[in-house]
Amino acid sequence: MRIVIIGGTGLIGSKTVERLRKKGHEVLAASPSSGVDTITGEGLDEALEDTQVVIDLANSPSFEDAAVLAFFETAGRNLATAEMKAGVRHHVALSVVGAERLPASGYLQAKLAQERLIKTSGIPYTIVHSTQFFEFLPGIAQSATAGDTVTVSSAYFQPIASDDVADVMADVAVAAPVNGVIEIGGPDTMRMSDLVERYLDMTNDTRTVKADPHARYFGAELDDGSLVPGAGARLGKVRFQEWFSHARLPRR
Ligand SMILES: NC(=O)c1ccc[n+]([C@@H]2O[C@H](COP(=O)([O-])OP(=O)(O)OC[C@H]3O[C@@H](n4cnc5c(N)ncnc54)[C@H](OP(=O)(O)O)[C@@H]3O)[C@@H](O)[C@H]2O)c1
Repeated sequence: MRIVIIGGTGLIGSKTVERLRKKGHEVLAASPSSGVDTITGEGLDEALEDTQVVIDLANSPSFEDAAVLAFFETAGRNLATAEMKAGVRHHVALSVVGAERLPASGYLQAKLAQERLIKTSGIPYTIVHSTQFFEFLPGIAQSATAGDTVTVSSAYFQPIASDDVADVMADVAVAAPVNGVIEIGGPDTMRMSDLVERYLDMTNDTRTVKADPHARYFGAELDDGSLVPGAGARLGKVRFQEWFSHARLPRR
């Protein structure tokens, strides 16, 4: 099967490319660095020729509210048009568990806009809602830092390793479209502030973590259910300690 992975050079994209190639599929890792740009449309029609499945694993270079919305809307429209022209039979995308519960987050609003375009495109689809990747912990800490203090939500979340996410993306890509959303999450539920503190400790980062139930997560206040997947979610196997012991991270 010919599969095009938009964002195939990114964290989840590159791991998904590897898994599908191992299964014997013809996989194109498409991104601006390989001449395929979903914003300008450059290289898109050529990339999608004779393609059965498109997996969109791209991310916006900017997380600023207006920029991220423009990114996912423009990319979504360009992709739908090109996929329709090419006769693509399955569009797979990766979004975020709880996106629909957190309207105050500009980033998650942009992901919902991406999802709406997929659902109305007329192309059979599967949307995977994932929880936060362990690899995103430094980003969570950075976005919550002022001076030497990291003020982070004490709400529960259920982070997942990128390897577990890529396993799911590779499975979903070769299964029939569900024309709906499936949820995935990590094996353990924990407080975001506790894990950020543990992570900073383990990387010898001297910033102080302040747990605050009202701290905003990318613009949205969380409750204990906001970021946690529902019953029936597919759960990853890799626990935090195991992930950390293999992660290639800057240790201070
Ligand atoms: N972080 C989390 O915890 C989390 C949780 C749930 C869902 N997600 C979703 O997971 C997806 C993948 O995230 P990630 O962390 O793997 O991304 P990433 O590592 O930041 O990679 C982003 C990819 O997007 C590509 N890209 C950027 N602009 C593009 C454009 N105009 N056209 C085509 N490709 C473009 C990049 O290509 P170049 O290498 O050429 O720049 C790169 O391959 C995102 O959609 C995100 O919303 C993330």
